[in-house]
Amino acid sequence: MSDTKEKLSPISIFLHWIVGLTIIAMLALGIYMEENEAYQFYDLHKSIGTLIFGVILIRVTWRIKQGWPVPASDYKKIEQLMSKVIHYVLLIGSVMIPMSGLMMSIGGGHELAIFGLELMPANASLTIPDEIVARNELIGGTGHQLHGLVSNVVIAAIVLHVAGALKHHIVDKDSTLKRMLGKSS
Ligand code: HEM
Ligand code: HEM
Repeated sequence: MSDTKEKLSPISIFLHWIVGLTIIAMLALGIYMEENEAYQFYDLHKSIGTLIFGVILIRVTWRIKQGWPVPASDYKKIEQLMSKVIHYVLLIGSVMIPMSGLMMSIGGGHELAIFGLELMPANASLTIPDEIVARNELIGGTGHQLHGLVSNVVIAAIVLHVAGALKHHIVDKDSTLKRMLGKSS
């Protein structure tokens, strides 16, 4: 069940793709929502984001217990360092994005629900019932800032990460990408 140089564990592969592809879709949805003020998607975005946060915590625990996979072939030191830095940015970013989303929603006093299942009600004003009041403006505001900022950092890291994966596959012709697709070398 553990990762080896020749083959990655099915758990590592499953967690990489479920989290990676969901994050890419959520980044696109988030940017679309923000640019078009598409409020009809907020509940969907928050529901998927909260659910995937649970999977991300499992993914990080699994990675800490397993350690990083050893490189599939002998790369230059600088390449190994770059890929390690990007992997850290991706993994830490995967935690920070949904965590800051939760800070923004909860701190801002908004409702938190997973596909209609309420986890936390909206913090309605005592005097004007239709108005939502922040629970903690500092947490809400910091969450909002971090959510956009870390998303941008992660987008840049994903571009480099995918370029690196393609470079190993097309130029180096090694098993880096194949290993992540479940094939053994
Ligand atoms: C994998 C997880 C997530 C990703 C990749 C993601 C990504 C994004 C991105 C890229 C934006 C646009 C930000 C901008 O352009 O400044 C956004 C907006 C937003 N996200 Fe997320 N998000 C995730 C999880 C969450 C969670 C868990 C929540 C709350 C429970 C949340 C709540 C929001 C809200 C409310 C907005 C709109 C903010 C506004 O209108 O100013 N997100 N998200
Ligand atoms: C289409 C998009 C993607 C492709 C083709 C891809 C490909 C790969 C490949 C081939 C590896 C193995 C590298 C090695 O053996 O050293 C890898 C590892 C990794 N990828 Fe991706 N990836 C993608 C998207 C993502 C996204 C969106 C994230 C996170 C936000 C991510 C996070 C990671 C991390 C943290 C690792 C290190 C090993 C692990 O923890 O599983 N990847 N990826």
